[in-house]
Amino acid sequence: MLLLVGLVLCLASARALTTFPQKLQVGNLDEDVVVTCNTSEQQVTWTLNGELEPMAELVAEGRTLTILGLDLPAAGNYSCWAGSVLLDTTYVVVRSTCKERMNVSCQAESYRGSFRCSWRAPSFSVFRARLTRSNGSFGDWVHVAGRGGGFSASFADPSFCPFAEELHPLQLHLEGLSDNSFLSFTIHFFIRDIVRPDPPQELTVRRRGGRLYLAWAPPASWPLPKSYFALLYRLQYELPDGAQADEYLEGREETSLREGARRVRISCRDPNASPTWSPWSAWRDLETARPRGPAAR
Ligand SMILES: *[C@@H]1O[C@H](CO)[C@@H](O)[C@H](O)[C@H]1NC(C)=O
Ligand SMILES: *[C@@H]1O[C@H](CO)[C@@H](O)[C@H](O)[C@H]1NC(C)=O
Ligand SMILES: *[C@@H]1O[C@H](CO)[C@@H](O)[C@H](O)[C@H]1NC(C)=O
Ligand SMILES: *[C@@H]1O[C@H](CO)[C@@H](O)[C@H](O)[C@H]1NC(C)=O
Repeated sequence: MLLLVGLVLCLASARALTTFPQKLQVGNLDEDVVVTCNTSEQQVTWTLNGELEPMAELVAEGRTLTILGLDLPAAGNYSCWAGSVLLDTTYVVVRSTCKERMNVSCQAESYRGSFRCSWRAPSFSVFRARLTRSNGSFGDWVHVAGRGGGFSASFADPSFCPFAEELHPLQLHLEGLSDNSFLSFTIHFFIRDIVRPDPPQELTVRRRGGRLYLAWAPPASWPLPKSYFALLYRLQYELPDGAQADEYLEGREETSLREGARRVRISCRDPNASPTWSPWSAWRDLETARPRGPAAR
């Protein structure tokens, strides 16, 4: 897992928006913004957030409305009307100016080009994100709803080639909205740096010739062939005195187990790239696998 940091803004208060409005206009703080009503009518009236409230900083002329010196209270839903007929709606937000570090954490379970990212942004209510794929084309916008200030979304790059060396980082562009402000930033990263495999699977303990053996398989999500996508395994034993002991193995899916250990578990990682270990498998109890003297068969 890698923490990616983008520079962002911080003026905001989360409220109503749950999706990106169809027509969004982003303005800079204290600059004028011109909103245009898409209509053939010559004269229109305007409402802001449903209120017919001519603010002093608004200048209506024909089909346009000029917001003089945009500020947070002037952000919102601008609708133009011909009498009671709604003609058009534009949502105006302020581009964030204050810069703050934003942590985005991304993780891939293998080299298939899919990954998941999460971040916290309590002052924003909704995000959308778009991936620039490894072949340079844009992915679709992914809508990201928040929960308790946290956001997470999955992405896939269908043009990603697991066999090729990654020469250029992927780019993920994120945009966030609160009811009055807009945040946008881009993070760059290589899949190889965010890979964290799933745990090894199909663990079996067998007794053979008086010894215990553990066999396992690579995680199902790990790509083949094994000769190319190697895995380094880490076995961890719990000893009778409660201490733990680690053992490392590469290029094998079976090993004889250390005598006398209480239980064992296993994790894995890519030996050549990201040094992040997979989660552990569940513990395997070894005491039940061991014969308990002549009476117990
Ligand atoms: C204006 O409205 C027309 C008809 O609804 C639509 O086709 C066009 O894309 C709109 N233009 C803009 C800039 O929204
Ligand atoms: C903006 O206001 C119009 C008219 O009241 C409404 O139809 C529209 O859903 C509102 N849009 C947003 C994004 O709130
Ligand atoms: C981002 O991560 C760094 C390092 O883990 C941490 O010190 C910082 O507080 C985090 N910032 C935010 C906004 O979460
Ligand atoms: C990039 O990959 C995508 C998905 O595989 C494909 O749809 C698109 O045509 C490719 N674009 C280029 C420029 O190769």
